Amino acid sequence: MFDIVVAADLDWGIGKANGLPWPKLRGDLQHFKRITQAASEGQRNAVVMGRKTWESKEVAGRPLPSRLNVVVSRGELAVPAGVVVVHSLDEALSVGDAETIFVVGGAGLIRAAIERPDLRFVYLTRIDQRFDCDVRMPDLDARGFVRDAWDGEREAEDFEVRYRIERLRPPPGT
Ligand SMILES: NC(=O)c1ccc[n+]([C@@H]2O[C@H](COP(=O)([O-])OP(=O)(O)OC[C@H]3O[C@@H](n4cnc5c(N)ncnc54)[C@H](OP(=O)(O)O)[C@@H]3O)[C@@H](O)[C@H]2O)c1
Repeated sequence: MFDIVVAADLDWGIGKANGLPWPKLRGDLQHFKRITQAASEGQRNAVVMGRKTWESKEVAGRPLPSRLNVVVSRGELAVPAGVVVVHSLDEALSVGDAETIFVVGGAGLIRAAIERPDLRFVYLTRIDQRFDCDVRMPDLDARGFVRDAWDGEREAEDFEVRYRIERLRPPPGT
């Protein structure tokens, strides 16, 4: 089983010019850190990202601390020690040594991930605005994903950008 963590605007935009389309949303970054880092004592989680996300402004080739960083690329990549490069999502989801695996983007990986029967939750930050985006993910509402009862759900606002953090489950019966 694995989870997805992603933030999307009203049109499911997630990226612009290899970065995030919106200003730094402190509460969302805290949520991302908390959810991806939370592991049992002596364990750690894995974050799986596409090569462009690895090279994006936010990550910039620096591994996210306290998590196993897994980068998916069809090519070869020079990465710091401890970072794992794999060539498919299948391979990424079979890395050992991780309590929970989180697919954290970008769009190509998410597109493949939402088709899988072993997807458990999507932690979705719904940004309540439209931004100029050049990368979009699929519309999860149209695909029948459902809001899951979760005590971490909340609304927040940073830099006059409102957003709601939700947890979704794949369509029932899939
Ligand atoms: N809003 C959010 O929560 C969020 C999260 C993450 C990223 N982003 C943004 O999204 C943008 C990047 O996303 P993106 O969709 O353009 O790129 P991406 O998915 O991060 O990276 C694409 C690359 O990853 C590799 N890849 C992806 N799927 C693969 C698969 N199934 N098998 C093998 N390799 C695969 C390929 O690498 P090679 O070309 O090396 O073969 C592909 O070119 C940036 O703007 C970033 O800031 C936003």
